Amino acid sequence: MAFYVTTPIYYVNAAPHLGHAYSTIGADVLARHMRQRGEEVFFLTGTDEHGEPVAQAADREGVTPRELADRNAERFRALMPLLNVSNDFFIRTSDREHEAKVQEILQRVHDNGHVYRGTYAGWYCPRCADFKTETDLGDQNTCPIHHITLEREREDNWFFRLSSFQEPLERLYAERPDFVLPRVRSNEARAFIHQGLQDVSLTRARLRWGVSVPWDPDQVFYVWFDALLNYVTALSYARPGADQTETFWPADFHVIGKDILKFHAVFWPALLLAAGLELPRHLFVHGFLLMQGEKMSKSLGNVLDPVAVVERFGADALRHYCFREVSFGQDGSVSTAGFEARYETELANDYGNLASRVLAMVERYRDGVVPEAELDAALAPDFEGLAETVAARLDGAEISGALDEVWERVRRLNRYVEECAPWKLARDEAQAGALDTTLLSLAEGLRVVTVLLHPWLPGTAERLLDALGQPGIEYDGARYGARGGGARVKSTGPLFPKP
Ligand code: MSP
Repeated sequence: MAFYVTTPIYYVNAAPHLGHAYSTIGADVLARHMRQRGEEVFFLTGTDEHGEPVAQAADREGVTPRELADRNAERFRALMPLLNVSNDFFIRTSDREHEAKVQEILQRVHDNGHVYRGTYAGWYCPRCADFKTETDLGDQNTCPIHHITLEREREDNWFFRLSSFQEPLERLYAERPDFVLPRVRSNEARAFIHQGLQDVSLTRARLRWGVSVPWDPDQVFYVWFDALLNYVTALSYARPGADQTETFWPADFHVIGKDILKFHAVFWPALLLAAGLELPRHLFVHGFLLMQGEKMSKSLGNVLDPVAVVERFGADALRHYCFREVSFGQDGSVSTAGFEARYETELANDYGNLASRVLAMVERYRDGVVPEAELDAALAPDFEGLAETVAARLDGAEISGALDEVWERVRRLNRYVEECAPWKLARDEAQAGALDTTLLSLAEGLRVVTVLLHPWLPGTAERLLDALGQPGIEYDGARYGARGGGARVKSTGPLFPKP
């Protein structure tokens, strides 16, 4: 079966921060998990390069939009391997193939009768690239997100008949309560639609940095329509010489932040319907990472640099922290102190120490070979149905919930070590059989949690499974008892050393 997951594409007006890394790692967890399950996966990320957010930032820096885009797109692209992110393609909306496909699809939307000429008069935030209604505005006509004063704009452009999709969208939400997850975000989208949909500008007259409109070359497409289409266009050219649209469209999950819900939950399905394309299966909407109580964002200056965190603690530690500290789907605060505390207590102590103890005991008491013995039935109930539960959680993109399930078992294994006290068994020859059982059960439990943790901790999991002499990460090995004894272990240095 095919599985297609996407991240938002990121504006190249500035360098990436932890908020961008967050959506990307979330999508990567799903992609890696599905590959373990044997699915054919396509995982897309990339950069959103047109429109005012980029054009104005380039102006401020005294470079062309293209120069700024080239510089920052490279930083986003380079971030992926640093974060252990396994994207199959990196799209840039300035790719020639993307632009051509956008023109083709939006020409079709035009020809299908969903576009008309009109005049936009109203408020617009160039940082959000969003048209604002009076009720959206903050004090003194400011953007409530960017706190900048907005101008009233008036321009002749082309409109998309969003209003004519009122009824189809209402039906979509009534029929598919899991189209948008979690449920609160679906309710939010429904409420927005219920207020009554207004037509929206499809093109911009005043801007040059964008995809030109084939039927009116003086205009470019409004950046959001150009950007949303990346999810479809990428499939047509990501693999040279092969169009993968048939295999992967519709997408299984678009992972997005709550700030861009309206575009994805309202504009996007309407646009797809207008173009005669299938709708994605789910959007998963996560919350904000906050610092000092505010959304982490470049314009507020309260950002954590993911590169700095990775250099100090490693990518896996960051990947773990994001989903343990903040429940995926909700807002939550992050901090350097919180990060260090979790690194120490959970990664270094709970998991890292468990791993080194198990490896060391097999080495010391059984010359480095996991004994062939009976598994301890005492652990069986703790692992019963675990792989299925984790898979079911991840089918709903419950990335924190799934991780919690596994972490409970990591802690269970630590308690088991204390309960069995293998160092005491080792002193009594009559307990040799019990020691065999304990060591095998620990090695097997550790192997199972590690296979399950692979999507969050890919580098660590690979290293530890190799040390356990059981390198496979396939999901059918994620059952307690799927492997027996006999493997030769080897030591690895501490998995999570003191930074
Ligand atoms: N270019 C648009 C998206 C187009 S998708 C077709 C855009 N880009 S963005 O760079 O501003 O941010 C995109 C995403 O980054 C957000 O939706 C969110 O997923 C993520 N985040 C940015 N800051 C964040 C936090 N502080 N916390 C969590 N996620 C954040 O919008």
